[in-house]
Amino acid sequence: CGIVGILGKGPVAAQLVDSLKRLEYRGYDSAGVATLDGGRILRRRAEGKLRNLEASLEKTPLGGAIGIGHTRWATHGAPTEANAHPHATERVAVVHNGIIENFRELRAELEAAGAVFQSQTDTEVVAHLVSKALEAGASPRAAVSQALGRLKGAFALAFIFAGEDDLIIGARRGSPLAIGHGEGENFLGSDAIALAPFTDAVTYLEDGDWVALTREGVEIFDETGAPAPRAAVRAAAAAIVVDKGNHRHFMAKEIAEQPEVVGHTLACFIDMAAGRIRLPDGADVDFSKLDRLAISACGTAYYAGLVARYWFEKFARLPVDIDIASEFRYREPPLSSGGLALVISQSGETADTLATLRHCRAQGMRIGAVVNVPTSTIAREADVVFPTVAGVEVGVASTKAFTCQLSVLAALAVKAGRDRGVLSEDDEAKLVSALVELPRLMAEALRLEPEIERLATTFAKAQDVLYLGRGTSFPIALEGALKLKEISYIHAEGYAAGELKHGPIALVDENVPVVVLAPYDPLFEKTASNMQEVAARGGKIVLVTDGEGPEHAGSAFAVLTLPKAYAFVSPMLYAIPVQLLAYHTAVFMGTDVDQPRNLAKSVTVE
Ligand code: G6P
Repeated sequence: CGIVGILGKGPVAAQLVDSLKRLEYRGYDSAGVATLDGGRILRRRAEGKLRNLEASLEKTPLGGAIGIGHTRWATHGAPTEANAHPHATERVAVVHNGIIENFRELRAELEAAGAVFQSQTDTEVVAHLVSKALEAGASPRAAVSQALGRLKGAFALAFIFAGEDDLIIGARRGSPLAIGHGEGENFLGSDAIALAPFTDAVTYLEDGDWVALTREGVEIFDETGAPAPRAAVRAAAAAIVVDKGNHRHFMAKEIAEQPEVVGHTLACFIDMAAGRIRLPDGADVDFSKLDRLAISACGTAYYAGLVARYWFEKFARLPVDIDIASEFRYREPPLSSGGLALVISQSGETADTLATLRHCRAQGMRIGAVVNVPTSTIAREADVVFPTVAGVEVGVASTKAFTCQLSVLAALAVKAGRDRGVLSEDDEAKLVSALVELPRLMAEALRLEPEIERLATTFAKAQDVLYLGRGTSFPIALEGALKLKEISYIHAEGYAAGELKHGPIALVDENVPVVVLAPYDPLFEKTASNMQEVAARGGKIVLVTDGEGPEHAGSAFAVLTLPKAYAFVSPMLYAIPVQLLAYHTAVFMGTDVDQPRNLAKSVTVE
């Protein structure tokens, strides 16, 4: 979804729409604006593309020199006018991007206290929460701050208040939000692209920040409520096409936006309000009749497939064959006509993957494609497209596309488990709630960045780095090693933790950092013993873990502690520190992070 807010000098409705047009790439199920006229909240919303809203506003214009706007990508509730943002009470209107995880509890509580809801969205609870605090006498700032304290999830919000003609409040937790600075006017938007029609002086809020915006002033607070001055920067002209934000590289930006894009992607595969899997229209597959699933992909996408194998086999008891796409045909696997082949590709143009698709098609198989570019060849040639909604990925080393691929595959595996009668409705509800929490947990994982940046100075001196993992952490170890190789040119290998003793341990000495990916789950102890084998040979252990894991770190060189999560979603979480480690090591070494030598974003030769 895209958000905009304007404190203007004259009527703002048309300006809001102008800005929303630039945000339409973030979703176009429905759109809406709210303004204040004579201190009263006015709203206009419309289903479908933005031009419907625009036409309605042209017919009957909306007054007011302050307003907020939204273009929606439906998560909770169908894309109807009633579910379109802004959501409002008489006292407050709000637009929202992201997921409010605990909206069901909050809604029950608010309804019990007399609130009447008009939509199925998670957003409306925010309007009622703030409204209730205002009614109890709180100032708008205090009301928002109280409400923020009750919300769980990854999101960005913008508010206007009845009778407050010079105040917009915005909050950022996990989804992006930026301030645009004008002269006697100020703006708020999801990114610099939204703000481009008005100003190129932009302040990007940090995660956890909230801001009180007036025409003459900007007050930013951090998550503890302390004033947090943040610098304004000039958004480059290039930002108008693809915004790099205040990041030095696209890769950094793409790592940082994972909570948001994973949220968007999951919203296509989950009915958030019902807590169930719901595949996108036209992408329904019945897994019950299959006797095997053939997955193939290249590079990072292949590692997403490797993780998916664990999920499909465990949750759906569906045997999975997985191949590197360039090897698939040479193995000459017996394929059953009518079977399902799944290809995974960010670009949708990778020649090896495309060749696999065509080979499987020739054998009479149905083709499902997990793909990020909807207009790509693979998307066009597949029978069923499972879209990742990562947005444009510019950095050659794939990051956000990977975690979006994992999210799609996770949802498909749960669907398969239900189709095949392996998972109960209850199991589905639990797994879905783990997925719903994921964007928030990913935002928490990103907070390890300063620690990882410090570690990177050590990694930059290494000649070889090993990554170890067990279970679904094994493919993440492979991905961690690939990321480091790709952008820092340091030699790295990923190994199954148990395999270390069968060879690679010969490489270990005090100069070799060993990254151990070990969620505190039933596999932890075994991996911890492998870690001891490394420690005994002087290897520099960097343990990435969660829960009680740090208590078992022994003599580790460093411990990175992730938030506790269901084992199911740990691959998406553990991807973040390994991406950040590769990124900061490369930055420290001064390589061309976004366009590393010898590589290409999409390889269209076999
Ligand atoms: C290239 C990129 C990798 C990517 C692989 C597969 O080698 O450098 O980052 O994982 O292709 O690309 P695809 O677009 O099919 O996911």
